[in-house]
Amino acid sequence: AEPDPALVEEGEGVFRKCKACHKVGEGARNGTGPALNGIVGHPAGAVEGFRYSNAMQDAAADGLVWTPEELGAFLAKPRDYMRGTKMSFVGLRDEEEIKAVIAYLSTFE
Ligand code: HEM
Repeated sequence: AEPDPALVEEGEGVFRKCKACHKVGEGARNGTGPALNGIVGHPAGAVEGFRYSNAMQDAAADGLVWTPEELGAFLAKPRDYMRGTKMSFVGLRDEEEIKAVIAYLSTFE
C-alpha cells in the first residue's frame, strides 16, 4: 500500500535528524552511516561498501530484516536495541516521528 502523503512529508522533516550521517534518494552515498535507499524490508547490515560494527554484522548474520517493527524499535533507542552499534544517535522521542520517518524511507527503492 502507498504510504499516506501527509505522513511521508512529516517524515521528510524528521529525516533532518538523520541527514548528518545518512543520505537517501538518487545518487545517495555512504557517509558516517550507510545510504538508506530500499532499507525498509531489507536485510540489516547489507549496504555495499559500508563498514558496519560487529554488533550489526552479528545481527545481519542472525537474519535481522528491517521490517517497520524492527526499524521502529531500533530508531526508538538504537543503543539499547543493539548493544555495540556504532550509530551514535539517541533515538526518536515519539511513535509518530518513528512512523513518519519509516513512511518517508519506504518511498525510496
Ligand atoms: C545504521 C537509520 C540517525 C549513523 C542505521 C541503519 C538504519 C539507520 C536503518 C541500519 C542500516 C543497515 O542495516 O544497513 C537512521 C535514521 C536516523 C539515523 C532513520 C534518524 C532518525 C543516525 C545518525 C548517525 C547515524 C544521526 C550519526 C551520528 C549510523 C551508523 C550506522 C547506522 C554509523 C551503522 C551502525 C552499525 O554498524 O552498528 N541507521 N539513522 N544514524 N546509522 Fe543511522
